[in-house]
Amino acid sequence: MTQTQIGTLEADLINRIASAADLNALEAVRVDALGKKGSISNLLKTLGGMDQETRQVEGPLINGLKQKITNQIAERKLHLEAVAMAARLEAERVDVSLPVQAGPLLSGRIHPVSQVMDELSIIFADLGFEIADGPDIETDFYNFTSLNIPESHPARQMHDTFYFEPKGDDEALLLRTHTSPVQIRTMEAGKPPFRFVAPGRTYRCDSDQTHTPMFHQIEGLMVDEVTHLGHLKWTLEAFLAAFFEVDAVKIRFRPSYFPFTEPSMEIDVQCSREDGIIKIGDGAEWLEIGGSGMVHPEVLKYAGIDPDIYQGFAFGMGIDRLAMLKYGMPDLRAFFDADLRWLKHYGFLPFDVPNIARGISEG
Ligand code: PHE
Repeated sequence: MTQTQIGTLEADLINRIASAADLNALEAVRVDALGKKGSISNLLKTLGGMDQETRQVEGPLINGLKQKITNQIAERKLHLEAVAMAARLEAERVDVSLPVQAGPLLSGRIHPVSQVMDELSIIFADLGFEIADGPDIETDFYNFTSLNIPESHPARQMHDTFYFEPKGDDEALLLRTHTSPVQIRTMEAGKPPFRFVAPGRTYRCDSDQTHTPMFHQIEGLMVDEVTHLGHLKWTLEAFLAAFFEVDAVKIRFRPSYFPFTEPSMEIDVQCSREDGIIKIGDGAEWLEIGGSGMVHPEVLKYAGIDPDIYQGFAFGMGIDRLAMLKYGMPDLRAFFDADLRWLKHYGFLPFDVPNIARGISEG
């Protein structure tokens, strides 16, 4: 190749490098010149077949061309990369000083019952309780029989049960009247020791200012080889202090009756009431918040657990009631009216995820 031809090739390549508009175009030029079958690579291959004299002339020319083009491509590449970055920065510009726009996340609200269920769950999880679950539609066996409430038992009437139409010869299903059936289902499915809570919906055919046909309960159960009333009392006190966000609460047990616990106690928490505002923790009054007791040996037997080895405590509390007390909501029925004004006032922002470390209800 003559010096002129090399000069022409060089001019052509330099021209193409300068006009490569982006990194892809530049890469194409590089492959054409320096790739395996590129024009400069082909020239380099011819060196081997030259006589020494010619090679001494052409060698430096061809190698010089290669060096020059390599440098030019590298330079152009730096430039194109800088241009591409500048374009991207411009296209993806974000004004971090703009105020947050009111979107669906800010106008939607979490219902207080959902919020309180989350609060209960994280408090009990922190105390080492698992979260258990069971169906809303139950059988007579799980809702009553296995909880030591036999067929003729007056407690069945007390529960104002919603029954489904029986299908054929099958036993009629029902809407669970309490969360206690989850005790049996969870124990059946596992092995002791047990420590769990089960928040969920419950149903009774009842409606007035303080009762709605659908309401919410949280069930608690602990079963181990040594479980006693002291454990129950401590657990309830620890839970209530955390839930109401006070240093300590006083509780009192009142003798009661549930077929599935023996002994059975109603749980009262101490409070004060001034100008209609109830404060939990201290004071002259007592407020009932749930039922509890030591699990009846018959119930353990129904769940396949040997009552000679294991004992346990159980409790059940009304979640709606707890929510009303904590957040000062006076009327239970408003919970289920789906009134957006109520929900805006009492509801929670989706970002207000309850958190033990930060304070349960702090947003
Ligand atoms: N299931 C009972 C009710 O709904 C409450 C309860 C649960 C009582 C567990 C004792 C133990 O009335």
